[in-house]
Amino acid sequence: MIPSSVKIVDVGPRDGLQNEKQPVDTAHKVELVHRLQAAGLREIEVTSFVSPKWVPQMADNAEVMAGISRQPGVRYSVLTPNLKGLEAALPTHPDEVVVFGAASEAFSQRNINCSIAESVERFAPVVAMAHENGLKVRAAVSCALGCPYQGEVSADEVEHVVKLMKAIGVDHCGIADTIGTGTPKRVQAAMERALKHFPLAEVSGHFHDTYGQALANIYACLEMGIHHFDTSVAGLGGCPYAKGATGNVATEDVVFMLNGLGIETGIDLDALVDAGAFISGVLGRAPVSRAGKALLARREKAAA
Ligand code: HMG
Ligand code: MG
Repeated sequence: MIPSSVKIVDVGPRDGLQNEKQPVDTAHKVELVHRLQAAGLREIEVTSFVSPKWVPQMADNAEVMAGISRQPGVRYSVLTPNLKGLEAALPTHPDEVVVFGAASEAFSQRNINCSIAESVERFAPVVAMAHENGLKVRAAVSCALGCPYQGEVSADEVEHVVKLMKAIGVDHCGIADTIGTGTPKRVQAAMERALKHFPLAEVSGHFHDTYGQALANIYACLEMGIHHFDTSVAGLGGCPYAKGATGNVATEDVVFMLNGLGIETGIDLDALVDAGAFISGVLGRAPVSRAGKALLARREKAAA
């Protein structure tokens, strides 16, 4: 039951850039969003309304949101870990907000400075206020396939958080492999738990590619009919509180695979490769995306 179309949320401007130590100009962040929407991305995770002391790179959240020329049909989402974050985000008019919890207690403490139970208590009024304002709420369950502090994370621990998120009324449940240690069967086991509580259309996968497993994990999700994934242009990304974890699976690589499978994404791979080359140039390095690099090399060869 492989789906015929897939929805991709490019989290590059947020997850991709949040971990960058070097300053990235607001104008470059805005241009990245513009290039992604020009390439056909219809969902873009733009920034996060978190503490600038915790994640300085996202301190220009409101400026980035204000700088974007919005394109009809594109949904712009932002992370909001608490009411303070949501109150700051609302005037910037996101279409969706994301609350982010964890399947491991240790990661919850390190990432958002509270226990899993406390985090969900904090998220409840965020969900209610977001809904009052007509916004969709996605939940991210981090460390669903492993934790940098705890080690192994069980499907029971994943389901525990999924149920708590469901109880506070989030609309969507994203299962995140923050450190990229998940492998296909374990990913399917975690996804099964999410699917017990959320419909197929409201379960997504968010895979960091640290161990090179992300495409295989996405394919394992496709086999279950899951058709919604977070990816990051140029393979950017990482969480400041998951040291050593590398970027998200590259959007270019995922689109290349989906094109090969005849699965519709609405994304123009050439324009996407340009967006990846653009942001990688800003950061002073080559794109991490294998497909991106190969297509750039092919272009160079053709031009020579
Ligand atoms: P805290 O220190 O426990 O919060 O942080 P607090 O309520 O005690 O407040 C302390 C200070 O922070 C106060 O300021 C607040 O005003 C301020 P002070 O009085 O000291 O000047 N503050 C805020 N400022 C701006 N925006 C806010 C906000 N809230 C409080 N929203 C908090 C708790 C959650 C804020 C903090 O831990 C934090 O910001 N953490 C951010 C963690 C983060 O962004 N991590 C990366 C994103 S998650 C991720 O990457 C995983 C994901 O990709 C999926 C995956 O791969 O797993 C989603
Ligand atoms: Mg992430």
